[in-house]
Amino acid sequence: MTGRDLPEVHVVRLGVNGAARELAGDPTRRLSDALRDELGLTGTKIGCHAGDCGACTVLLDGEQVCSCIVAVGQCGGRSVTTVEGLAAADGSLSPLQRAFVAHGAAQCGICTPGMLMSAESLLCRNPRPSAAEIEDALAGVLCRCTGYRKIVEAVLAVANGEVVDVAAPEAGRAVGSRAARLDAPAKVTGVERFGADAWPAAGATAVLAMRVIRSPHAHASFEVGDLRELKARWPGLVDVVGAADVPHNAFAIFPDLRDQPVLADGIVRFRGEAVLALVGDAATVAAIADADVPIRYRPLAATASMPAALAAADRGAALHARYPDNVLCRGRVARGDVDAALAGAAVTVTATFTTRHVEHAYIEPEAGYAEVVAGRDAGGASRKRVRIFACTQTPYMDRDEIASVLQIEPERVHIVPSAIGGGFGGKLDLSVQPLVAVAAWKLGRPVRLVYERPESMQSSTKRHPAEMRASAACDAAGRLVAFDFAGDFNTGAYSSWGPTVANRVPIHATGPYRVLHVRALTRAVLTNDSIAGAFRGFGVPQSTLLGELLIDELAARSGQDALEFRHRNALVAGDTTPTGQTLAASVGLQACLAALRPAWASAREAASSFNARAEASESALRRGVGIACMWYGIGNTVIANPSTMRGALRWNAARGGHLFLYNGAQEIGQGTATVMPQMFADAVGLPLAAVEQVMGDTDLTADAGKSSASRQTFVSGNAARAAGRELRRQLVERLGFAAADDEAGVALALDGHRLVARHGDDERALDLRALAAATGGPDLLAASGHFNPPTVPLDADGQGVPYATYGFAAQIAEVEVDLELGTVKLLHIHAAHDVGRAINPTQVEGQIHGGIAQGIGMALMEEYVNGKTDNLHDYLIPTVGDVPPITVHLIEDPEPLGPWGAKGVGEPALVATAPAILNAIHAATGIRMREVPVTPSRLRAAIAAAARESRADKTR
Ligand code: FES
Ligand code: FES
Repeated sequence: MTGRDLPEVHVVRLGVNGAARELAGDPTRRLSDALRDELGLTGTKIGCHAGDCGACTVLLDGEQVCSCIVAVGQCGGRSVTTVEGLAAADGSLSPLQRAFVAHGAAQCGICTPGMLMSAESLLCRNPRPSAAEIEDALAGVLCRCTGYRKIVEAVLAVANGEVVDVAAPEAGRAVGSRAARLDAPAKVTGVERFGADAWPAAGATAVLAMRVIRSPHAHASFEVGDLRELKARWPGLVDVVGAADVPHNAFAIFPDLRDQPVLADGIVRFRGEAVLALVGDAATVAAIADADVPIRYRPLAATASMPAALAAADRGAALHARYPDNVLCRGRVARGDVDAALAGAAVTVTATFTTRHVEHAYIEPEAGYAEVVAGRDAGGASRKRVRIFACTQTPYMDRDEIASVLQIEPERVHIVPSAIGGGFGGKLDLSVQPLVAVAAWKLGRPVRLVYERPESMQSSTKRHPAEMRASAACDAAGRLVAFDFAGDFNTGAYSSWGPTVANRVPIHATGPYRVLHVRALTRAVLTNDSIAGAFRGFGVPQSTLLGELLIDELAARSGQDALEFRHRNALVAGDTTPTGQTLAASVGLQACLAALRPAWASAREAASSFNARAEASESALRRGVGIACMWYGIGNTVIANPSTMRGALRWNAARGGHLFLYNGAQEIGQGTATVMPQMFADAVGLPLAAVEQVMGDTDLTADAGKSSASRQTFVSGNAARAAGRELRRQLVERLGFAAADDEAGVALALDGHRLVARHGDDERALDLRALAAATGGPDLLAASGHFNPPTVPLDADGQGVPYATYGFAAQIAEVEVDLELGTVKLLHIHAAHDVGRAINPTQVEGQIHGGIAQGIGMALMEEYVNGKTDNLHDYLIPTVGDVPPITVHLIEDPEPLGPWGAKGVGEPALVATAPAILNAIHAATGIRMREVPVTPSRLRAAIAAAARESRADKTR
């Protein structure tokens, strides 16, 4: 460093996990950073560095503290306990850790250390806490995945002395079991390595740190001045990487749309866009002020809204020359004669709806590093490669985009995914990867980049804000006859997943109902706003808000019960969808609604009684119950959808005989690290406990496609099953049994160095040691499985088969509204989901809980405003206190194409929640909110406006 005084160095002596430690250096530095960077205790996670997320929670003299806002100097003579200190000396898990494993309380796991330490602090001072006391204790730790319910359950189990480990399923019984997550022990002990937790083999000191200088303007041209003075002032600054250093300065999700520069080249199109990257020692790049970097911006007129962008295009002001109308793309589904059907309908309703930017708010900010490594081409000649360790939902897409950016062959890019602290679609897009790759490639040294929370929020993609209008109509019997939808989606400055949103929404716009006459049109509009991309549902949660409002209105205007109206119009097997697809099977919406009937009746009766009492006592509280349905096409829209998985039989002296799965279905918290081995093990016919695996590494695993669109269980699950079946066929054959014997039942077992097969009284064995000696490699027998769901491309009217299967769901929300404050309290959510088959019911429930929590956030509190809510203090997501009890009904209407009948649930979990809440608010207040989030101020204003309107009516 230079240009400033070095801080005084202190030595702080403290106890850490029972051992005496010394921390030498600036006493004002964060305890969290000292634990991670100096003591290597990376189990303490960083989500915000601001005291907002609780991921960094440790115990200081037994009390929970956010270690990111505790200075090292405050810890002298005190005792610190981190997650690494919870397990016993022999490595056995504590009861609390075991409970988290057994209850499925960790999904991505980035919040898990903070949750564990908060719960540990509570249990130390109060060994028998109530559920309410547990919720109080966990209130300072944010979780974006679990919906908190299973975390509370796990802590309650410890409090009640009821921790029961989940037994490993027997051979052939893994599918459908509540097997514990295979990666859960690593999550609860803090040893799992997320993007910011690892350094290249060269070691932390050899790595260059990167900090990105980002645009403070939404739209501007700029020039970079002379950098020599900056470099002279800061000897620790090794390089300043700019657009000219990028071999091919454009990337995107879709290769034919590459429009986003790695580093802006003379023009920035949104606030937070990357302009320059400082590379040097960590202290130096952190110390350089943005203002000291010579960039001269000339602000340009910015189009932050869709109307502004469309009007600007009329004046010839396009964001990109390729799109003169500022429309990235359009989507269309048209079937029947909508205008005639609307004109002839008995009841027609029309409404508009507006949604805002929603931030993914994964607790792990983007992080990773790149290093240049030796490699060889196919002919054996030496060719350097780049290896990237980073958080990603899509290793192979990353590989191909980095290869394009560096202008090298894809095989020279090696993606090693870190553990991922939440993705939800946001880590499908490149973030740190091209930046560190370009710098490492240029400098020949490892380069590491860890986003801070504001940088993550400014630069990452968001849920598309939508402006929608629709009309729906039914006949006199309450049968839907027409649906006419038009929606604009603010896709921001670059293409990202805009085409997918524009295409997926029209397919789903009617909701899961039988409608003969449909017109659904969308536009993805380019603006100078944050880039909008993929976020759990690809636009369907937005359109469902409007669709389910209209369904409620039609039911009311037809004098029909809202649940029964939906049941009458629900798609069933044999029906044709708006794209002309006939649904052959696994259409479980009516079963979902039937499962909810008892709760629908009892909840509405209870709300009615409550409201009668409230009115009599002049209380401001009112209760309401709302319902909403959804459907969701499983897998990619428009783009190809294949997956390949490979499996093998292995033997080594330490482990004996075992299975090995090359699992390319990237784990992002949703459970593919467990459900893929479950399906593979059952397909082979050996126990789940026999499976080892590697995940996502592009040098080791085949391309299983991205972890998004709720596709992995259905698509990669089929590939894992196919690989397992083929491996079993080889094993049975190697043991000398015929295929017919196997059809009659050959039982396989691993016994040390032997693979044993029994068919009736006939027992045969394979000596794996001998096979290993003969084979020479780790895989004694290997097999591959592939699946690509059958679809038919859509024509100009959106007719075709966009997805091979669909998930269905219905949810009920019970709410309590304070009419004076405008606040909405969730009392209970009932969720019925047709998942085809629950491969692991604990994981499926966890996905549903987590999706519901995100739906609550979307309905009631989440609104990202670039430049105003770039942190987890101003951007609110649901805490444990915001998520009510959730009752889950798993409906298993098997999908013939699915592995064991399974479909997918990741995105379906969220879609129905927000519309059910808004319909419940209407039931409680009589007010139809037509925008989200329904913040207290918006609801209070709507209640006041309705009261004024009512008074005016009375005086008219
Ligand atoms: S990292 Fe400390 S509270 Fe978020
Ligand atoms: S499991 Fe809590 S943030 Fe992912």
